[in-house]
Amino acid sequence: MIKTVTGALVCASFAVAAAGPASAADYKVGMLLPYSGVYAALGQDIDDGFMLALEEAGMVDQVEMVREDTEVKPPVGLAKTRKMVLEDQVDVLVGPVSSGVLGAVRDFVDQTKTPLIVANAGNDAATGENCSPYIVRVSFSNSQVNRPMGQWMVDNGVKSVYTLAPDYAAGQQQITAFADAFKEAGGEVVGQEYTPFRTTQDFGPYLSQAQSTNPDAVYVFYAGSEAINFVKQYDAFGLKDNTTLYGSGFLTSPLYVDAEGPAAIGVIGSLHYIPTLDTPENKAFVEAVQKKYDRVPSEYTVQGYDAGRSFVEAIKSGATDKEAIAKALPTVSYTSPRGPVSIDPATNNIIQNVYVYETVEGDDGKLTQKLLGTVENVKDAPNGCEL
Ligand code: PHB
Repeated sequence: MIKTVTGALVCASFAVAAAGPASAADYKVGMLLPYSGVYAALGQDIDDGFMLALEEAGMVDQVEMVREDTEVKPPVGLAKTRKMVLEDQVDVLVGPVSSGVLGAVRDFVDQTKTPLIVANAGNDAATGENCSPYIVRVSFSNSQVNRPMGQWMVDNGVKSVYTLAPDYAAGQQQITAFADAFKEAGGEVVGQEYTPFRTTQDFGPYLSQAQSTNPDAVYVFYAGSEAINFVKQYDAFGLKDNTTLYGSGFLTSPLYVDAEGPAAIGVIGSLHYIPTLDTPENKAFVEAVQKKYDRVPSEYTVQGYDAGRSFVEAIKSGATDKEAIAKALPTVSYTSPRGPVSIDPATNNIIQNVYVYETVEGDDGKLTQKLLGTVENVKDAPNGCEL
């Protein structure tokens, strides 16, 4: 560590002499996030969580941040990744949000041996058949958050569902994981549709189709601005009155549930974090986020925070270069605001609890998350990963 600091200072003063002002930071972190497009709010929330972790560790001045906007587009994400690795020479990448972008950058990250802390994108393949020792996921896998809902819904009396999701990797994987588990538990999927990703504004035709199959429930994956539109339109269409809306819990994330308003009340979802968890670690986290950002944290804030904590712990363990950081990341351990977590050595995906929650109106009239059930220590089944 001392060696690195000295090395960095020597480099920095050389750079000052040669090319004017330069950063004296010891590490470069590349944020590969959507700062525009349907997932822009998610990207900023992850960034905020990461910065909170650096601040708590007193490391803000040691780290130079490089930020690039993926625009939620796989080719843009790959171009930005190439730039951050080859030109900026970042030590570690954090992101992306979209499963499509993760699929596009996977080979480049692996070939250039650049540690990537996945802070959202749930693409199952990245910790499955396309896993890599350089990719560690601290967020969730698409199947992990959805699979537990199959049994839970059958246990709670739901016999038939209609499913909807955006037509890209995350939508397909999340719905498939749920549908397989639901059918295995004895439920029936009476219909399904995938909506064009990033461009669907009007869900009316899909809602008509869902209604015509007369299911007990509708189960969806939508996130970001698509979730806001969907939840509002589901209510306005009149479906909510007799057909409960379920989904992966991103649908009513605390990040944007206020924009959904009363339409979100009664929606039930499963997720790896809700801000109402009653643990000392979560209470401290909620307080810290309220203080710094004046809002309730979401699953995205905690993912950014845990990406930051993993990076901090890897550095503290003595890792000084890309190879050492990649080796240290899967081994770090601490208690997250979301509960006990660890990285599965078989896949490099996080093992964590999945919480079933309902959006309700609290005593203060604000929307909040009521915990309905906890499925402990959910980890992916063997999935083709060889590390
Ligand atoms: C994904 O593309 O993997 C994804 C995006 C947004 C979410 C969850 C998953 O909230």
